[in-house]
Amino acid sequence: MVSILINDFSRVPAPVRQQLLDAAAGVIQSGWFILGENVTAFEREWAAYCGTAHCVGVANGMDALEIGLRCAGIGPGDEVITTPLTAFATVLAILRTGAQPVLAEVDPATGLLDPDSAARCIGPRTRAILLVHLYGQIRQMGRWQELCRERSLLLLEDAAQAHGARAGGISAGSFGCWAGFSFYPTKNLGAIGDAGALCTNDAAVAAQAAQLRNYGQSDRYHHPLPGLNSRLDELHAAMLRRLLEHLPAATRRRQEIAARYHAGVRNTEITLLAAPEEFSSHVYHLFVVRTARRDALAAHLRTRGIQSLIHYPIGVHLQPPTRELRRDPAGLAVADEFSATCLSIPCHPYLTDGEIEQVIDALNSFR
Ligand SMILES: Cc1ncc(COP(=O)(O)O)c(C=O)c1O
Repeated sequence: MVSILINDFSRVPAPVRQQLLDAAAGVIQSGWFILGENVTAFEREWAAYCGTAHCVGVANGMDALEIGLRCAGIGPGDEVITTPLTAFATVLAILRTGAQPVLAEVDPATGLLDPDSAARCIGPRTRAILLVHLYGQIRQMGRWQELCRERSLLLLEDAAQAHGARAGGISAGSFGCWAGFSFYPTKNLGAIGDAGALCTNDAAVAAQAAQLRNYGQSDRYHHPLPGLNSRLDELHAAMLRRLLEHLPAATRRRQEIAARYHAGVRNTEITLLAAPEEFSSHVYHLFVVRTARRDALAAHLRTRGIQSLIHYPIGVHLQPPTRELRRDPAGLAVADEFSATCLSIPCHPYLTDGEIEQVIDALNSFR
């Protein structure tokens, strides 16, 4: 039986469950369910956690990206460079604005977008680079800022997987125009359902995002913009506020587990992704290894009670709606190779020390 899971909600401690129930009860008793004091307070607290001036709560991570792109004035006729190795939502958000995603190659050591490939993809219609802080990693931000500055492009961040990751003391949302976050239940800060947010230091972007999430409304019944319905609910905001109190400790635990994997895994058949540039620049939403014999490794782990998953088995360029997208003229062979060899292993904060050892032993005994 598989008992060491990638995510294990059954292990959420009873006092935390009780906090969630109390938060929900408070909202139900308040009689105020949409855009109330919990959303405002969560926006303030999440902005503080991310070190940005503003946060706008929205219904999910994909909407955060679409709203952010629209706030940046991106739409039909524009191109946005991003990665084929991401959740499909990243690319769908670009498509929903009417703009065209352009897919660049990834770095084999991290799975992150490759700056040289992104530079090759820049064309006359390119307006922005949408970085994905994949698996929780924030890397090479100076290089990305320089590239965007030199080529007059906007730097945008999909930080759905990188809650609280910091490089040089700075976290997502402060490197460029904005960062989009998802609070999908499996994320490091996960709601009890769908939720998301956009963080920015730009007051105009925040003001426009707040309008766009609410039908484009400025004042009651005034709609200067054709927005969407993407409000963060009071229920989710109230529960996210409680869960946020536990996020720093949970993140430290993820980093500790990752450090033990880096110290303990010694198997020439298995490659770990590059260690983070600095301790705080990886929050290990996922811990990913690579091996040429991926299916065999997954089966070996399963026999030892360990679950594994693949992020992501099929590149965006191989999905039916996005097969024709423009891409690096040199091709996406590294992304294909990465998709064929990557495997995510358990790294959630409720793993016991004994289970971490079991995972390390299982990886080391793979032949
Ligand atoms: C990198 C990335 N971008 C965007 C999203 C979309 O977030 P959501 O599922 O909240 O819409 C996700 C979540 O799966 C993600 O991992």
